[in-house]
Amino acid sequence: MNGNLKIQDNTIGIVGLGLMGSSIIASLLALGHPVKAIAPIHGEKEIGYKRILEQLHLCEKFDILQAPVEEYLSLLTVSSEYNDLEDCHLVVECIVENLAIKETVFKKIAEVTSKRTILASNTSAIPISILQKAVPDPQRFIGIHWAEPAFATRFLEIICGKETDEETTAAVCKLALSWGKEPTVLRRDIRGFITNRLMYAVYREILHLVEKGDTSFADADKCFRYDAGSWMTLMGIFRRMDYEGLKDYYTAYSNIFPLLSNSDGISLQMQKIVDAHSRGIQNGKGFYSYTRQEAMQWSQAFSAFNKDIFHLAANYPERISETSNGTK
Ligand SMILES: NC(=O)c1ccc[n+]([C@@H]2O[C@H](COP(=O)([O-])OP(=O)(O)OC[C@H]3O[C@@H](n4cnc5c(N)ncnc54)[C@H](O)[C@@H]3O)[C@@H](O)[C@H]2O)c1
Repeated sequence: MNGNLKIQDNTIGIVGLGLMGSSIIASLLALGHPVKAIAPIHGEKEIGYKRILEQLHLCEKFDILQAPVEEYLSLLTVSSEYNDLEDCHLVVECIVENLAIKETVFKKIAEVTSKRTILASNTSAIPISILQKAVPDPQRFIGIHWAEPAFATRFLEIICGKETDEETTAAVCKLALSWGKEPTVLRRDIRGFITNRLMYAVYREILHLVEKGDTSFADADKCFRYDAGSWMTLMGIFRRMDYEGLKDYYTAYSNIFPLLSNSDGISLQMQKIVDAHSRGIQNGKGFYSYTRQEAMQWSQAFSAFNKDIFHLAANYPERISETSNGTK
């Protein structure tokens, strides 16, 4: 990909039109990229188009669009033909989380794209070093991990596989910055990448405490919302420790680390919930129970919250010293 091109000159291909694929497509259209969307499953073209349209309308609701939805749709082509990816500068795979299926799809993508096209996967957990073996020229293969909704989150994890070259990583970082993201680079594709590993450490500890009867789900959620929730988006973790005073953390580590769960078994509580066929807000049964209306209210609240935090976070970017918020 030529880093000097304007956004509008970089055509991007997206393969897979599910939740993430359609959300990423809407975010790229909103930025002005021509997008070639590939529906890999027979009959998915129409439903895929509908999903993209819905996501564009959500972008409109989030005040992200500068023009009517129809103008962005003129940048979009939806087809089932991999050949349509031929002139893409970047192709991102967004299909089901299944190694064998992803490998088959990447072989098809590699057959029709030029050696200069960057190939990327939005996988949540499959190692990039394994996936990149499916294509010739694996140095142009990289992980680009979005969070949902793609158009309203500043998060973007860029994951290098063993064979990914510097040029590819630099081109994707540059592109991510032009998208208004705060990209992070994971140089070695450790299992779970960065953000999932952090969260799984938290999940293990809280399930352990609840299982011992030390607290309840509801109180644990309240702590997380109103403590971590009040500083995370601004500071992250290391800056928070700098801010609070490092000596206290140092002392607390030696006292608390030996007390934390290091179990590698599955929590019994979690096992019970899964055995009862609970699927959370999808079927109203999980750690909490939900009526259909409550489930819908949580989805709507999540969407509205994302909008608020997207705009709020823009006032406090990583380079805070360049803003009035850092100097007042
Ligand atoms: N959902 C999230 O919040 C999220 C976040 C980050 C990354 N991801 C990753 O993004 C990818 C897609 O996730 P999603 O949530 O959009 O899934 P999804 O179930 O909504 O969509 C999956 C898509 O995969 C395609 N597909 C299904 N079977 C296929 C087959 N046999 N051959 C080719 N294509 C097939 C279809 O286009 C389908 O729409 C996964 O790798 C997932 O781990 C998801």
